[in-house]
Amino acid sequence: MIYVLGSINNDISLEVERVPKKGETLIADGCRMGLGGKGANQAVAISRLARKYDDGRKAVKMIGQVGKDAIGEDLINKLDEYGVDTEFVRRVNRNTGIAVITVSGKDNRILVYSGANLGISKSDVDEALQNATAADTLLCQLEVPTYIVGYALRKARAIGMTTVLNPAPAKELPADFYYNVDIIIPNETETQILTGINPKDWTSQLEAMREFHDRGVRYVVLTLGSAGSAVSDNGKLVSHIPALKVNAVDTTGAGDTFVGALALTYPHIGMYSFKEACLFATRAASITVARRGAAESIPSFEEVCALYNNEIKFARSK
Ligand code: ATP
Ligand code: RIB
Repeated sequence: MIYVLGSINNDISLEVERVPKKGETLIADGCRMGLGGKGANQAVAISRLARKYDDGRKAVKMIGQVGKDAIGEDLINKLDEYGVDTEFVRRVNRNTGIAVITVSGKDNRILVYSGANLGISKSDVDEALQNATAADTLLCQLEVPTYIVGYALRKARAIGMTTVLNPAPAKELPADFYYNVDIIIPNETETQILTGINPKDWTSQLEAMREFHDRGVRYVVLTLGSAGSAVSDNGKLVSHIPALKVNAVDTTGAGDTFVGALALTYPHIGMYSFKEACLFATRAASITVARRGAAESIPSFEEVCALYNNEIKFARSK
């Protein structure tokens, strides 16, 4: 089982030619509303990409909070429809989290109102993890209070679980935070904020990955947008994985798809090597960027397999 501790947002995504200047009002070309939040997106990615268990068990449990409002109810229903176990999603007396996203060309800008996401407590974590075992995984991001994430990682480590951290959005983290993380997956901005190193080329990427290893993390994956990712298993297996060339229309959720895919494939199934897991995540994310929206753009396992099959057919036909 994978436990995802994180945010659940109602995303309002506006398609615009450009972002407005100070004092300016612009008319958007399109609008979508739907399930988002880094935690929810990653949980959906895991559920969509997991092979279904024969006995109908779910692959992922979400630990999160929404408001006692119609939006919150709708978001829980959507998580249920995607096959995410929502037993530990609480409804509380706060507004449901909201993200306002502008998508202009391939770029997005995101403004988050955290609302109910800030209410998660240590006892919520205790309750959710009470039946967790060393065979399970905990996946976190930083859209819920940092001290709760630190607490959950410590607890998961004590149980012997695999721990995965997507440090997004980036925040200064206490040094002991890293000791309890098995796999860290930051993007370029997060890498720069957390290490002070701009991962602009292979030399700086190696330096940044070494910095995370020195802080106690075994596996490091730097996601680099259309430039792919840089991956390192404690400096032993070090590789650059190029992104696929696709027609990117909205990159919202690309990082979440990548993180969910990696959290699912590497520690949980065990049939993949670290590099194969990163290749799978790269393919899954390449489908997300070619679609609009957040959770709704995340592909299923079958869709990622079809992409592999097409690549094989293409390679054979050459
Ligand atoms: P976002 O916040 O936009 O969801 P992120 O900043 O967390 O994403 P990125 O590094 O932008 O994460 O993207 C994650 C992965 O998605 C990349 O490593 C790459 O494999 C894939 N990806 C991102 N952008 C593109 C693109 N334009 N074309 C193909 N693949 C992409
Ligand atoms: O990573 C994308 C997500 O970031 C969006 O769905 C938005 O809700 C913000 O949390």
